Amino acid sequence: MIYRDLGGMRMPALGFGTWELTGESGIEAVRTALDTGFRHIDTAVRYENEREVGTALKASGIARDELFVTTKVWHDSLRPEQVARSVSESLERLQLDRVDLLLVHWPSPEGVPLDETLAAFAEARAAGQTRAIGVSNFPVALIEQAVDRLGSPMAANQVEYHPFLDQSALLGALRARGMVLTAYQPIAGGAVFGNPVLEEVGLRHGKSAAQVALRWLMQQEGVAAIPRSGNPANIRANFDIFDFELAPEEMKAIFALRGNGRRVNPDFAPDWDVLESA
Ligand SMILES: NC(=O)c1ccc[n+]([C@@H]2O[C@H](COP(=O)([O-])OP(=O)(O)OC[C@H]3O[C@@H](n4cnc5c(N)ncnc54)[C@H](OP(=O)(O)O)[C@@H]3O)[C@@H](O)[C@H]2O)c1
Repeated sequence: MIYRDLGGMRMPALGFGTWELTGESGIEAVRTALDTGFRHIDTAVRYENEREVGTALKASGIARDELFVTTKVWHDSLRPEQVARSVSESLERLQLDRVDLLLVHWPSPEGVPLDETLAAFAEARAAGQTRAIGVSNFPVALIEQAVDRLGSPMAANQVEYHPFLDQSALLGALRARGMVLTAYQPIAGGAVFGNPVLEEVGLRHGKSAAQVALRWLMQQEGVAAIPRSGNPANIRANFDIFDFELAPEEMKAIFALRGNGRRVNPDFAPDWDVLESA
């Protein structure tokens, strides 16, 4: 495993995404991921599966300090008293005393002041309900504001990132602030398959296009990735990326695919960064 440094804490760079993994099959998927070796699990209030994640974590018998659990507060709960309630309810559903990383899922579409939300997040951290705090879906301008206003360490920004979406400006801004970029939709929801560059590189290493995309993310400083799968074979394949390395020219060829291939863009999304290569 490769680890990322979150201000002295270690986060496994490869995590398991759980969006849409609910019910019995959701529990099974998380259990399979844990059996496979995943130790970093990504959930959110919005995924409506924190109970399932909690059940799978407990059943695994894995020591708490070997696990890294992230959850997120939905954008309808960003006022301070709502944040406090959301975090307590998440912990209850997860059957945990604390999570490792707590994220603002999206910037507030209703204009809740960022300082208020972040102060409530810092309070949750001070109370031991989370070890680290961060954000999700924040473009550079909002990261600057957030870091400025928080005035204490901010660990990560979870955003869409895969070979078809240029995130170089954001990644530069995060690195400059010692923050990790966690890539969601790291295999572009499956769209990496059939791409000639990714397939060809994969062929050379005996790996799939998805494994190449994940490996490409792992080889970028300060980047983590959280692929999701409900299929045991795919879960195992997504973890099987630590026995090969992409050469510099292969990394370069994959970087050349970048463009404006954004896939997650709800109507409440913020103004995204203008992409240099698009
Ligand atoms: N913060 C946010 O706003 C946000 C937004 C979106 C996602 N996320 C997080 O990021 C995680 C990952 O994103 P995502 O789930 O949207 O997309 P993804 O991980 O890029 O792709 C998931 C899709 O790819 C398929 N797949 C996975 N591995 C495969 C493999 N090895 N071979 C073939 N197909 C494969 C899955 O199907 P099978 O199940 O059949 O394998 C599923 O349909 C989410 O689960 C969530 O935790 C966060």
